[in-house]
Amino acid sequence: MTFIADANSSSKTHSTIKMVDVSLAERSYSIIIGSDLLGKGASYSVADLGKSRLLIVTNSTVAPLYLEKLQQGLEGYSHDTLILPDGEQYKNGETLNLIYDALLQKRFDRGSTLVALGGGVIGDITGYAAATYQRGIDFIQVPTTLLAQVDSSVGGKTGINHPLGKNMIGAFHQPKLVIADTATLNSLDDRQLRAGLAEVIKYGLIDDLPFFGWLESALPQLLQRDMTALAYAVEVSCKDKAAVVAADEREAGKRALLNLGHTFGHAIETAMGYGNWLHGEAVATGMVLAAAYSHHLGLLPQSDLQKITAMMVAAGLATQPPAELTADQFMAHMAVDKKVKAGRLRLVLLKGIGHAFVAEAVDEADLRRWLGGYLAV
Ligand code: NAD
Ligand code: GLY
Repeated sequence: MTFIADANSSSKTHSTIKMVDVSLAERSYSIIIGSDLLGKGASYSVADLGKSRLLIVTNSTVAPLYLEKLQQGLEGYSHDTLILPDGEQYKNGETLNLIYDALLQKRFDRGSTLVALGGGVIGDITGYAAATYQRGIDFIQVPTTLLAQVDSSVGGKTGINHPLGKNMIGAFHQPKLVIADTATLNSLDDRQLRAGLAEVIKYGLIDDLPFFGWLESALPQLLQRDMTALAYAVEVSCKDKAAVVAADEREAGKRALLNLGHTFGHAIETAMGYGNWLHGEAVATGMVLAAAYSHHLGLLPQSDLQKITAMMVAAGLATQPPAELTADQFMAHMAVDKKVKAGRLRLVLLKGIGHAFVAEAVDEADLRRWLGGYLAV
């Protein structure tokens, strides 16, 4: 089955629809970015669905906001809906089973398609259900948070959390289409918007110095939800991510750079209890820690560390880890991170803004000592 995103089939007029392609041979797909993409006469068409049945998976917060609109856009397609409880604490096996239950009870077959309507939690868990139901069915991402539009809906990482580690159970399974309606960002609360900005800033830090420069001046507009600025941030983020994913779909090398700040961040999220620190908040602090450790190693100039910290502060993001976390706790959580290879901790570090690299075999004794000192200040 193929899915064709046709941005010209609209009965609405959209001057600002952008398409970003993720080039992965037979697994290639498009990301459509624009305002008011959902609803009747939506400016995309999902062609060749044929007789495919759709199951829209969403949650109790997003459903009252956008389910009806999405259903209007899918008029003519046979679809059911499943509304899950909302929260990172539900990104687990129990909730995943609710999706399998619905699929089996309603006799969905291998030609069916899941549609994930919501943030990264809904996208990850629905994607994992799609990866595993009857050994794999199609799915479409309709991300409604900034974080999901710039990161989690793109690239095919799907999964759930385990009590012992974040995102530890999962699969690579690419969506067939991503529909990022930036108008949905209007209903996000400020805290969630800021958490999404952390992942946007990440792309600048990894390998896009001009984008980091743009963000330095555009942050106030982004925080005020200027739709043009937000759409641009989503587009550049998706382009940056698509390029990395196209080069290294399964994280054999370069894709690990997308985990900048995540080894520290996942430790914070897991240690503090899923949902207490938002993923983006933990990643923001994690990126500051990665930058500060890079500076400690003599790799990153003080001026860059200051710029990075200032950017997080301007975005209203935390730069300090939770006071109750000790260096030993950090190290224990980081030891089960997926970046650990052959028992050796790997970290994404910085040689400059726009110049991230993977540090293999980190000196754990040095890191523990440094963390102890950093946390004590
Ligand atoms: P989330 O899915 O929990 O959404 C945040 C909150 O916003 C939720 O309460 C949600 O119901 C609500 N919400 C969603 N859309 C809304 C809207 N338009 N208006 C109002 N409220 C809305 O969190 P998130 O930040 O979107 O995603 C975080 C998750 O994504 C984490 O589990 C993280 O591990 C995962 N993630 C995955 C990848 C990947 O590559 N697969 C990348 C980054 C993060
Ligand atoms: N968010 C990291 C990745 O998609 O690889």
